[in-house]
Amino acid sequence: MTRRTDRHTAAEDQIPAPAPADDRGGFWAEQAARLHWDTPWTRVLDWSDAPFAKWFADGRLNVAYNCVDRHVEAGHGDQVAFHWEGEPGDTRNITYADLQREVSRTANALLSLGLATGDRVAIQLPMIPEAVFAMLACARLGLPHSVVFGGFSPAALQSRIEDAEAKLLITADGQYRRGQAVAMKDGTDEAVAHTPSIEHVLVVRRTGSAVAWTEGRDLWWHDLVDAQADTHTPEAFDAEHPLFILYTSGTTGKPKGILHTSGGYLTQAAYSHRAAFDHRAGQDVYWCTADIGWITGHSYIVYGPLANRATSVMYEGTPNTPHEGRHFEIIQKYGVSIYYTAPTLIRTFMKWGEDIPARYDLSSLRVLGSVGEPINPQAWLWYREHLGGNRTPVVDTWWQTETGAIMIAPLPGTGLAPKPGSAQTPLPGISAKVVDDQGVEVGKGESGYLVLDRPWPAMLRGVWGDTERYRETYWSRFAQQGYYFAGDGARYDEDGDIWLLGRVDDVMNVSGHRISTAEVESALVSHPSVAEAAVVGATDATTGQAIVAFVILRGSAADGSAEAADTITALRNHVAQEIGPIAKPRQVMVVPELPKTRSGKIMRRLLRDVAEQREIGDVTTLADASVMSLINNGLGGPA
Ligand code: PRX
Repeated sequence: MTRRTDRHTAAEDQIPAPAPADDRGGFWAEQAARLHWDTPWTRVLDWSDAPFAKWFADGRLNVAYNCVDRHVEAGHGDQVAFHWEGEPGDTRNITYADLQREVSRTANALLSLGLATGDRVAIQLPMIPEAVFAMLACARLGLPHSVVFGGFSPAALQSRIEDAEAKLLITADGQYRRGQAVAMKDGTDEAVAHTPSIEHVLVVRRTGSAVAWTEGRDLWWHDLVDAQADTHTPEAFDAEHPLFILYTSGTTGKPKGILHTSGGYLTQAAYSHRAAFDHRAGQDVYWCTADIGWITGHSYIVYGPLANRATSVMYEGTPNTPHEGRHFEIIQKYGVSIYYTAPTLIRTFMKWGEDIPARYDLSSLRVLGSVGEPINPQAWLWYREHLGGNRTPVVDTWWQTETGAIMIAPLPGTGLAPKPGSAQTPLPGISAKVVDDQGVEVGKGESGYLVLDRPWPAMLRGVWGDTERYRETYWSRFAQQGYYFAGDGARYDEDGDIWLLGRVDDVMNVSGHRISTAEVESALVSHPSVAEAAVVGATDATTGQAIVAFVILRGSAADGSAEAADTITALRNHVAQEIGPIAKPRQVMVVPELPKTRSGKIMRRLLRDVAEQREIGDVTTLADASVMSLINNGLGGPA
């Protein structure tokens, strides 16, 4: 790999001025030039095959080199990349030089397994440093990774491995959850029993619990990786080389494999991390509390911060283990200056009480970020007061797995008047609009659909293995205008600032996690007691939305009221087992009928009214208008 210090090497810490609306290309070229390119690009964007974008297409780079090696070469090897805190209290400080050695060892290990550029690697790991080493080793070798959240069930892992035809699975013996060592390999074994594409399972020893072992297939990380040489020379890949696949819920039961590539993704992940949090390399201590299994973990724990030479905190456990002040204790311990979390956690902190953060010195905090769901003004104000001492900006960042990086956020230091609850304005280089049904932009004070009307560097490049689904899901709604349909409702206020209003499709947002109603419904109907199921997301004070399921039971389950409570518990557990604990319904209501239109479509709107204990809305399109009284009477509500 060439070592250059020309204009393609970063000039750090300058937040560029917003791009004029007509020079987005020039703006992104400037941002891309802060990375190291082995072969500089000649063309910023090729949109000739829309909606398939190519950014910096003839440029070549290595993503891991950009995130690790170049910082070491520039003399920052001793800077801490991660202050890692294990849930039981063990810690590790990993410098950029350590990271380079660990990633090199891991890359050498993957090569020793015969993996070749383009092969897919599935990763299901707790929040331990090996998760980062594994992702970066994959990036270094051009092996697209597919990280699967540790809380997903074996069935969910299996379907993701199958869809991507992954050859290697990297996992752990177990993980710590609320002070307990919980098995992980049992579940991954169950998944790989049915996935012939998997040749090896690389296992990190985290909890030391006993595990079943398949000789020839299973390998301990400490045997294989630790024995490798700690140097590895990275090779450059095309800017459009696939970097990762990340599965996310859509409106059908089958999650979509969102595909992200290298050069454009890294450019925007790095730029947005720097700009949204006003990040200063070598000065800030940054902490994003997401899990590596979500896009926030990919872009704002791994790729963006590391490209910007951040010093980050990475925490393994839950926020109340061993006590409710754990996050504040960590902020105090490391002098965290930028803290990025989700509204659901802020609301949980609110519930635990303001006296808890008050016990800690949080004066190092300089910027607070929020992501995952609309932040209600009350939570915004509490966050700013009790964590930010009423000094810090609160940056509400709107984006999605598909957008790869932050798209809409009030950048700190730009003089924008703060608006609790509003993500306000697209980042420089980004364009978003709120439009009506016809794709016509709405006026100030009006609501509609959020669309992205210009391609952006970190945009998804497709749905893995399903070109049609990519076109259909994102580009068919406003095909005439060529707009990307985000699936969110939004409103312009009187100043033209954007307020996000939540999903307009059948996707729920529970604690910032995206779960489709169809996924939960299909898990429910796979249980022998369930004849039919309909699921809605009901407003919940802590989790934003909560899953409420309406089920029609079959056979004996339908008449035995004594067993009804048992059945409900069994169904909630069944969903947790099929998808993962995050999808467990808050409530399961047994009903005699479901409200349907004449064409048989379930009217979720009416079920949402029931779930939220509101007066039932317009029932005139129901095939049988008496169904709602039947449901309500059965549940003991108003007829
Ligand atoms: O509905 C929006 C909501 O989360 C969805 C994207 O979910 P996911 O792909 O899992 O990515 C979450 C982390 C980026 C969006 O369609 N969402 C995310 N951030 C916000 C938000 N809604 C309102 N305000 C936000 N800041």
